[in-house]
Amino acid sequence: MRTQVAIVGAGPAGLMLAHLLSAEGLDVVVLECQAPHHVQSRIRAGVLEPVTVDIMARLGLDARLRAEGLVEDGFCLADGERLIRIDVAGLTGQTVTVYGQSEIQRDLMAAADARGIDVRWQVKDIVLHDVDSDRPWLTCRLDGHDLQIDADFIVGCDGFHGVARRAIPAAIGTVHERVYPFGWLGILADVPPCHHELIYASHPRGFALASLRSQIRSRYYIDVPTGTRIEDWPDDRLWDELDARLGPHAAAGISRGPAIEKSIAPLRSFVFETMRHGRLLLCGDAAHIVPPTGAKGLNLAASDVYYAADALIGWYARGDGDGIAGYVPRALARVWKAERFSWSLTRLLHRFPEDTSFDRAMQIAELDYIAGSRAAQLTIAENYIGLPL
Ligand code: APR
Ligand code: PHB
Repeated sequence: MRTQVAIVGAGPAGLMLAHLLSAEGLDVVVLECQAPHHVQSRIRAGVLEPVTVDIMARLGLDARLRAEGLVEDGFCLADGERLIRIDVAGLTGQTVTVYGQSEIQRDLMAAADARGIDVRWQVKDIVLHDVDSDRPWLTCRLDGHDLQIDADFIVGCDGFHGVARRAIPAAIGTVHERVYPFGWLGILADVPPCHHELIYASHPRGFALASLRSQIRSRYYIDVPTGTRIEDWPDDRLWDELDARLGPHAAAGISRGPAIEKSIAPLRSFVFETMRHGRLLLCGDAAHIVPPTGAKGLNLAASDVYYAADALIGWYARGDGDGIAGYVPRALARVWKAERFSWSLTRLLHRFPEDTSFDRAMQIAELDYIAGSRAAQLTIAENYIGLPL
């Protein structure tokens, strides 16, 4: 089989890219190793930057997110006692939209079916070949048969554990990585949120986040040391800890309820530099990971695919190789700034095992500075809504 662009992975990056390319008449095939229900049911973050909303709008896929997404004018930092409000709309004139990544995934999948985009599910054993030649190709197994796909380009949208990044020789790429000594223990529950805006809390006991999915569904997190067992955190213990870390104002608003979902996600900052080798491009988690503090993961995947689509569309429309050559610097410039923001917010809000009383004093002083400085609040707000494309 032959296609113009073979996309590995049908997460948000892969499907957004498939939509952007096929809307311009390009021939694409998407190859996903999991079944649709598995991909659909993954619970991830849910804060969309304006740039991500705009991409969904360009695809004509923003109806549900405009109807059901919660437009947030701001969010709060908490230092254990007080709430420090970051007036995102007042400072930047823009807003973020709370809309779960699983809902984005659902919208992209439904529209892929409706628009006849060729998505193959449960594709096994994908191997990439000759990606640094003019004729890259891949082999895989589908429904018990071997399949070969010849393409002009292959785009790896297959997440952190995928195969595409590994097709780039080690000598060509550089790994930049920081693994944090804690993870986020998250709980999803059908209870009203404790506050109408997100609260990121830095408490002597550790980090906590109060987030939401709707007026009746809440999402909360605390940080826990790496290696923590989920069985050690029955719901009541987790609610008690959230009460303590989020501070009295938020705690007064918390409604408790049984967990619909509870899991621990490790925290990592990771950039694979380079994001292209010949005719193989990487987008999203395949190329980089941010810790969830700041909710940049999905938004970075969206900006990568915007740049990749621009480059590929330019190549087919005008034979413009400069766009392809420019993909990596364009994407990485935005990635590194989001890495910086996510890392600095993680450093500000979490308790690191090696922290001394001095380190804690620095966190408190920085929070106090932010509370009193419009300049500091603007810096946070403009990063939170996402830097321009
Ligand atoms: N072959 C085919 N598909 C694969 C393979 C493989 N070898 N390995 C992984 N995949 C699929 C995964 O099953 C998944 O559906 O690739 C997809 C990658 O999707 P994500 O991990 O969601 O990554 P991405 O699309 O880059 O989304 C960006 O934003 O909030 C963050 O980390 C969060 O997933 C999120 C990301
Ligand atoms: C979430 O709602 O899951 C969420 C929100 C904000 C973050 C991370 C996760 O920074």
